[in-house]
Amino acid sequence: MSYENDLILKQARGEQTDRFPVWLMRQAGRILPEYRAVRNSLSGFKELVETPELAAEVTIQPVDILGVDAAIIFSDILVVPEAMGLEYQMIEKKGPWFEKTINSEADLGLISADIDVEQELKYVMDAIQITKRELNGRVPLIGFCGAPWTIFCYMTEGQGSKTFSKARKILYQNPEMAHKILNAITEVSIKYLKAQIKAGADMLQVFDSWAGILPPDQYEEFGTKYVSRICEAINEVPVTIFAKGAYFAREAFAKLDCNTIGIDWNMDIEESRRIVGPNKTLQGNLDPCLLYADFKTIESETNKMLKKFGNSRHIANLGHGVYPDTDPEKVKCFIETVKNFKIK
Ligand code: CP3
Repeated sequence: MSYENDLILKQARGEQTDRFPVWLMRQAGRILPEYRAVRNSLSGFKELVETPELAAEVTIQPVDILGVDAAIIFSDILVVPEAMGLEYQMIEKKGPWFEKTINSEADLGLISADIDVEQELKYVMDAIQITKRELNGRVPLIGFCGAPWTIFCYMTEGQGSKTFSKARKILYQNPEMAHKILNAITEVSIKYLKAQIKAGADMLQVFDSWAGILPPDQYEEFGTKYVSRICEAINEVPVTIFAKGAYFAREAFAKLDCNTIGIDWNMDIEESRRIVGPNKTLQGNLDPCLLYADFKTIESETNKMLKKFGNSRHIANLGHGVYPDTDPEKVKCFIETVKNFKIK
């Protein structure tokens, strides 16, 4: 397939480009009034996720309105636990909520890895196919899933948490059960990512949003181990691993069979480059709160960040998802600044 703009695929593979590609985590939804308009015409978030034509429409909005160099399919990491047996609800102003959770061996019967993802998550594959057709090669499309550890957090807690102590308790009280759950999630995630590639995803990102709450040795055992299995299973398209807060895992991540490592704004750019070495692309890492500053500051801080990445492999992004109350004009300022920065 040929693209009008494949800067992001080139950077992910370590090929030279004149400027850095840019996109934002959580760019689809959250900040755009155009998204709100589509969403408000429906019963809620879930209906939008499950309606492929509309999911495709809001996936493409940031390409048209913000001018990003990639689209990310509009969906959620929680479709995987749902496909495995735990239905989720998205409660307005509160976030995700699962009626059933896994807290004991007896609960293991609630989930299954033996599922046909192409069937269970057909609405995602349909949305990918429609998006690809409508993008018509303008920019690549990113598919995604949650990392096993982060999905484990939602399956055991049933909602967000400050401490994730229910999830973490299991690692100490019943590590074998934790491994059974993580294995099941990993198996389904690999099938799911492969189905996304088949439907047309050009690259993939794995979100480990709650990586940073574990001590380093536990993250190695319950986090990196499973992320690594996903990386080994996917060779068809470039893969990005983003593990929020896992500065302690950067050395291990340098050895993963992936193209790109996402870094958050707590991680020093030059230090990350030293740890990871020259042979992987780094993605990130502007502080999302910088987008509350004035335009001049956004421009100068973005340029400062880009200079720190120098001419090494880089995909510009924020250090985590864009916050819902960010002014889209400020986002555009960030994007334009990246686009105007010439790689020497
Ligand atoms: O990046 C994109 O724009 C693509 C779509 C996307 C969504 N969620 C849509 C969404 C992606 C990639 C995600 C990933 C996701 N979902 C993560 C990992 C990334 C991260 O931010 O750490 C996590 C932890 C979730 C779980 C989740 N979904 C939560 C905690 C919430 C509620 C709060 C919020 O807005 O993040 C959601 C809901 C959700 N997922 C919304 C969107 C646009 C908001 C729903 C709405 O009100 O319309």
